Amino acid sequence: MPPTAKTILLTHYVHLMYDVYAIRKDFPVLNNVVYLDNASTSQTPKPAVEAINEYFFTYAGNYGRGAHRLAQQTTEHYESARETVAEFFSCEPGNVIFTKNTTESINIVAHGQEWAPGDHVITSVIEHHSNYLPWLSLRTQGVVLDLVESNNEGVIDPAKIETAITDSTKLITISHVSNVFGSVQDISRIIKIGRKNDIPVLIDAAQSAGHMPLSEKDLRCDYLAVPGHKGLLGPQGTGILILRDPAELRPTTLGGGAVEWVRGCEYELLEPPARFEAGTPNMPGVIGLGRAVEYVTALGVANVEKHVAMLARVAAQKLADIDNVTVYGPKDRAGVVPFNVGQLNPHDVSMILDETSKICTRSGYHCAMPALEFFGINGTVRASFGAYNTAEEVEVLAESVKLIATSFV
Ligand code: ALA
Repeated sequence: MPPTAKTILLTHYVHLMYDVYAIRKDFPVLNNVVYLDNASTSQTPKPAVEAINEYFFTYAGNYGRGAHRLAQQTTEHYESARETVAEFFSCEPGNVIFTKNTTESINIVAHGQEWAPGDHVITSVIEHHSNYLPWLSLRTQGVVLDLVESNNEGVIDPAKIETAITDSTKLITISHVSNVFGSVQDISRIIKIGRKNDIPVLIDAAQSAGHMPLSEKDLRCDYLAVPGHKGLLGPQGTGILILRDPAELRPTTLGGGAVEWVRGCEYELLEPPARFEAGTPNMPGVIGLGRAVEYVTALGVANVEKHVAMLARVAAQKLADIDNVTVYGPKDRAGVVPFNVGQLNPHDVSMILDETSKICTRSGYHCAMPALEFFGINGTVRASFGAYNTAEEVEVLAESVKLIATSFV
């Protein structure tokens, strides 16, 4: 059986306190670069990569499809990962669907239910394209999308969501943390508004899961869309959809592994979660994700939140103190710090940061064009922090940006 969070804690990293330098030993790639692109994708720790290697080298088979030992072992490890994820999000394994990313998770919700002309969906103007386009695409079915505005720091007033509700509102869908501004939305209040009005709520936790604890109230949403490869430190190509009531949605993909039986033109779906995972799944990815979630659990999400928020706050302050540098977003932010240097093209700044100091940042629209348009910004450079970043890396960033600001502006 895979080791538990407890055995991992004891064998790999005994942290009496949050020791970022000890943590970094599990991420060899960090010896080569200053990695500040965690909002895009995070690095994966050794134990998770080892779990993937172990899968390939010792027991790779297909999930749920064979009586032989390798298929059995694979199924056991895959289901064990589901249990780990369920425990992490305080739900039952039957509520956990493995997907390939947050985008797929959201699309399952958008396309797994019937819509009628006039149905109304509330989201915000600062959403990532993945929590925007799936809803926009429903316009062909007559669905009306309502875009609630944020304040000038990317914070959405839940009262605005409540005001936008009509008799036809069928869903409220909001990102917990903005991938553009790092602003944190009051999702427990938004979920409460949804419940009070009997409207399902989807929370896009792409930038929050693993980076900050989700409270019992935060987890009362109907749908939680989560990436495996960001705050949870799992491999790319993994995602999660937590469904409060899996029976309410129909699967958007059918095929092997999703049906109880097929006879002629009739079939019966398996119970969730299997009905949502047709086809051979990403077994190595899910098994690696399970181990990564154990790793994050051992770090302590509350510790990660504190550490990342501290780095982001200091970085934002240091950057804002440089002449000609503009920092966006609220003071109280998650680990995302967007900025611009004078009128320089953000891609150029990002490239110079890489070339001069091996600093990896993201630049451009961050897959959120309407958000940047709303703010009248033509793209930003974005530094985003993770569990393994250090105060020294913040210094390197600030010094390098200062050099650019004094040399090019
Ligand atoms: N959603 C990811 C980002 O913001 C890819 O960079």
